[in-house]
Amino acid sequence: MSTAEKTFSKGLEGVIAAQTEMSFINGTEGILEYVGIAIGDLASKSSFEETVFLLWNKRLPSRSELESFTQSLRANYGLCDEMITQIKSLPTDAEPMHVIRTMISMLSLYDTNPNENSVEAAREKALNILAVTPMIVAAFDRHRRGLEVVAPDASLGFAANFLYMLNGEKPTDAMIRAFDICMITHADHGLNNSTFAARVVISTLSDVYSAITAAVGSLRGPLHGGANEGVMKMLNLIPSVDDAEDHVMNMIKNKERIMGFGHRVYKSKDPRASELMTLAKQLADDTGNMDLYLKSNAIENIMEREYASKGIYPNVDFYSATTYHCIGLKLDLFTPMFVLARIAGWSGHVIEQLGDNRLFRPTTDYVGPHAAPYVSIDDR
Ligand SMILES: CC(C)(COP(=O)(O)OP(=O)(O)OC[C@H]1O[C@@H](n2cnc3c(N)ncnc32)[C@H](O)[C@@H]1OP(=O)(O)O)[C@@H](O)C(=O)NCCC(=O)NCCS
Repeated sequence: MSTAEKTFSKGLEGVIAAQTEMSFINGTEGILEYVGIAIGDLASKSSFEETVFLLWNKRLPSRSELESFTQSLRANYGLCDEMITQIKSLPTDAEPMHVIRTMISMLSLYDTNPNENSVEAAREKALNILAVTPMIVAAFDRHRRGLEVVAPDASLGFAANFLYMLNGEKPTDAMIRAFDICMITHADHGLNNSTFAARVVISTLSDVYSAITAAVGSLRGPLHGGANEGVMKMLNLIPSVDDAEDHVMNMIKNKERIMGFGHRVYKSKDPRASELMTLAKQLADDTGNMDLYLKSNAIENIMEREYASKGIYPNVDFYSATTYHCIGLKLDLFTPMFVLARIAGWSGHVIEQLGDNRLFRPTTDYVGPHAAPYVSIDDR
């Protein structure tokens, strides 16, 4: 490409940097599909395990394939003793996102062949990371609460097993289904920042652990996966539904960003937000948190009035905050839930990248001086 053809796009907006067969997004019409299937259909009819199979294999599994995939995931739920010892030695005031990033990186130390990058090996490593990360989160949370670590239960599905390891008791069917829907809706989303980070790292033929670790680091930022915590903090600052108007209008007046709104790609309502809104309402009703849902709904209406003309609508993080709160999760576990689900997408992209790799190496537009004199240090 000649210099004249090169264009600068701040934040790489609109730049196509990879091809994928996993998710399709139409930001104008608010469409999200995984391998061609509408996110709404998957949220209402599929399971997280089936969705992961779909993303990694680009087709829905047969009954026996799903059974076998689920069994392999369950067989990998447990962390090795060394990792559990490490988790128990961590400072109890550490942020869970820093813990997850560190522990996923550490998993590579207990892999006898961490640098093997064949597509087959990458799939195995991805399956293992996906299977054990719930235990990393649950074990750390119990450690900081001074509770015994709960071993995984391989008779339970991904969602149920995580909630069981976290709380030490079997969750209700309604909680399992709600959590499963959260996992499905967060599983993949095109070339978002963390997925791009994962693809950039694996494109050097580094290793799967490094790629996923980089993605976790990216996701924790408040402009990306960290926004769901920001939403909850905002909801906590608003005493009642009647205060939502003044609170949000003050934020707008002070030019503050309203967390959970706006998206680089969607200029209409994020279809995941629509799915999660329905879920949040049901859960809020079931768990006595209707005030939280009503506050969220009031904020959405105010934002619609003030910002719809700018294409700013609720994104995936807005109603996931209410949903996670109703499931009983602590605030700093909200973004970790995004990690549990998005490992599916990150890994799928890593596998796609390895299957047809070219090193990512964009260029910069140099805007500094030329032919500058070197002034000796005594004369500066
Ligand atoms: C997600 C996000 C970073 C995407 O933004 P982007 O494509 O980079 O767009 P910009 O940050 O350039 O914003 C464009 C305009 O919309 C405004 N805007 C975007 N999101 C906004 C929000 N949540 N609240 C208020 N204003 C917002 C910006 O202030 C800017 O206004 P201006 O043109 O008058 O300066 C942005 O919408 C945001 O910060 N949202 C809040 C964080 C969040 O929920 N992130 C989760 C994403 S899934």
